[in-house]
Amino acid sequence: MTSPDRYAVIGNPIAHSKSPEIHARFAAQTGQNLSYERLLAPLDGFAATVREFVAHGGRGLNVTVPFKLEAFEMATALTKRADAAGAVNTLRFDGDVILGDNTDGIGLVNDIVANAGVPLAGKRILLLGAGGAARGVILPFLEQSPAALTIANRTVGKAFELAQRFSGGSHIAIDACAFGELKDRFDLIVNGTSAGLSDDMPAVPASLFHPGVLVIDMVYGKEPTRFMQFAAQHGAATRDGLGMLVEQAAESFFVWRGVRPDTAPVLAALRALLQA
Ligand code: ATR
Repeated sequence: MTSPDRYAVIGNPIAHSKSPEIHARFAAQTGQNLSYERLLAPLDGFAATVREFVAHGGRGLNVTVPFKLEAFEMATALTKRADAAGAVNTLRFDGDVILGDNTDGIGLVNDIVANAGVPLAGKRILLLGAGGAARGVILPFLEQSPAALTIANRTVGKAFELAQRFSGGSHIAIDACAFGELKDRFDLIVNGTSAGLSDDMPAVPASLFHPGVLVIDMVYGKEPTRFMQFAAQHGAATRDGLGMLVEQAAESFFVWRGVRPDTAPVLAALRALLQA
């Protein structure tokens, strides 16, 4: 058998990354001959680490914290969704071309539409946060033709900036506001803030949550996040970011290999690993 094609996830820190477990399962399931490792880059050595990886036969990378902006700058060609996100989580090396893509947003959309079974066409979406993670999901959401998208952020000016940036190319109503001003009824609420990392949650009114709204936190852990617990206490259906993680990986796998893995058994296996 020929030697496997080399892939990796690059970040700092990287030891916690679940991507190798996910891609090993995708490769086994689809019969693709590839290896996938963790690559720790020094904080000031992202580009050098990428070049060395390519010089040693690397074919593609997933990029995680804190290098998504540097990956965006390093790419010599960008997909439309990476350009809109302003960040790159997937690199593919084709000769001299470094293709930069972003599969995070479509990963979230696929988790909502395919895994949770909630179509987004005609729905009212609330996105909390206006940082890199939030920005990355806006174009994939708009492509689902929702009725309206509201962006709310602690620093409200950043929410207005994002709403304005994406309103230009879209016929969908996009508005912005502060957390305390939220009162409409939404069908989907997505927490794209990093508040959960410090066991905090965005200060939104409890009246947003009710049976019939789906609430998603983009992060995940052994226990539901504080935000998910609060939403569930008020009757909402909740979902964490593990499905998004597996779906963004599947989309990256497709970008590299042209093959779409079946994500359901991989998500189930990862959930079991997380809870073990
Ligand atoms: P990321 O790449 O995870 O998106 P980021 O670009 O630094 O990180 O953005 C972090 C987001 O989480 C921002 O929207 C931030 O709000 P501000 O713009 O007001 O800083 C939001 N955030 C972080 N901690 C938060 C908290 N405790 N409550 C509410 N929002 C928070």
